[in-house]
Amino acid sequence: MIKIINKIRIDFDSRLDSISDAKQLEQIRVEFLGKKGQLQELMQGLRNASPDEKPKLGKDINLLKQHVENKLNSKSACFGAKPSKKSSEIFDTTLPGRKELTGTLHPITQIMEEITSIFFGLGFQVEEGPEIETDYYNFEALNIPKDHPARDMQDTFYIEDQTVLRTHTSPVQIHVMEKREPPLRIIAPGKVYRCDSDVSHTPMFHQIEGLMVDESISFSHLKGIMNIFLREVFGKDTKIRFRPSYFPFTCPSAEVDIECVMCNGKGCRVCSQTGWLEILGAGMVDPAVFRSVNYDPEKWTGFAFGLGIERIAMLKFEINDIRLFFENDIRFLKQF
Ligand code: DAH
Repeated sequence: MIKIINKIRIDFDSRLDSISDAKQLEQIRVEFLGKKGQLQELMQGLRNASPDEKPKLGKDINLLKQHVENKLNSKSACFGAKPSKKSSEIFDTTLPGRKELTGTLHPITQIMEEITSIFFGLGFQVEEGPEIETDYYNFEALNIPKDHPARDMQDTFYIEDQTVLRTHTSPVQIHVMEKREPPLRIIAPGKVYRCDSDVSHTPMFHQIEGLMVDESISFSHLKGIMNIFLREVFGKDTKIRFRPSYFPFTCPSAEVDIECVMCNGKGCRVCSQTGWLEILGAGMVDPAVFRSVNYDPEKWTGFAFGLGIERIAMLKFEINDIRLFFENDIRFLKQF
C-alpha cells in the first residue's frame, strides 16, 4: 500500500506540472480529492490493512492529502483564483454568534449615583470642589486646629507646605458657603486622599458630603434625613442608631450606625461582634465654621454629614477587600 501512496504522489506532481488552466486544475482536484477520487479510494483500502500497519498508513495518507491540498491551492493562486477553502474554514451558520461585550458602571459609580439620586429627591443640589486644596479649606476653615493629628504627614498627602490633596469632602462646605447665602441644601460627592493602604483603606477613595443650612434647622432634621436615606439604601426595616462623637467642624457630633447587614445584629466578624456598623459622621455645623464664611451663627443653623462610598458598596455587595474596586479586573467588575 505504501507503494501505491508513493505512486499517487508522483503521479499527482507530474500531472500538476503539466496543466495550463483553471479548468484542468479542477479536473485534477476532482480526480484526487473528489468523493470518488484516488485518495478516497486509498482510505477505503485502509480498512483491509492489518491492525499494526493501519496507524502508519493512515498517517501517510493524511500527509499525502495535505500535500495535494497545498499544491492545488498554490497552483490555483497562479491562475488568479482564491485558494479553495479547507473544510475547517467553511463558515458554519449553525454556530452561536460571538457575544458583544457591553460595559457596566463601576460599582462605586453605581452607589454614588444611587445616593445622589436619593438626596436629589430630598431637594439637595450636587456641588463639586477641587481635589487639590489649601490648608485653609481642608483644615483651618473647618475648625481643625494646627496640632490636630489629621494634619500629620502620615495621614495627609502634602503637595507643598500649604497645599494638600483633600483628605475629605468637607472643604466643599466652605467653598459653597463662601459663594452662596442660606438656605442651602447640598451634597458633594468626590475623590479624597489619605496616606493609608490595607484591606479597608486605599490612598484614594470616595466620599459624599452633605450640608443643610437654614433658620432653625435642628438635630431632628438631621435624624429624619439620615433615617430616610439609610432606609432607602439598606432597606426599609434597617435599624439605625446615633452615637455621640467628636468632629472639630460639628457640635454636637454623632456617628451613625446601622444594624449589621451581615448578621442582623447577632454579632459577627464584620461588625466586630457588636451587631452594629458605623456608616457615617454627622452633626450640627459648629458656629466657628459659620463665622469663617461670615454666616451669622445667631441666625443660621445647619447640619452636615460625610460618608465613605467604598464602605457602603462593600457592605451592600458583600465585598471584603476594598482594593478589588481599583484593580480593574474585568471578572470582578462584570458581576455588578
Ligand atoms: N469629614 C469627616 C471624615 O472624613 C466626615 C464627616 C464627619 C463629615 C462629620 C461631616 C461631619 O460633614 O459632620 O472623616
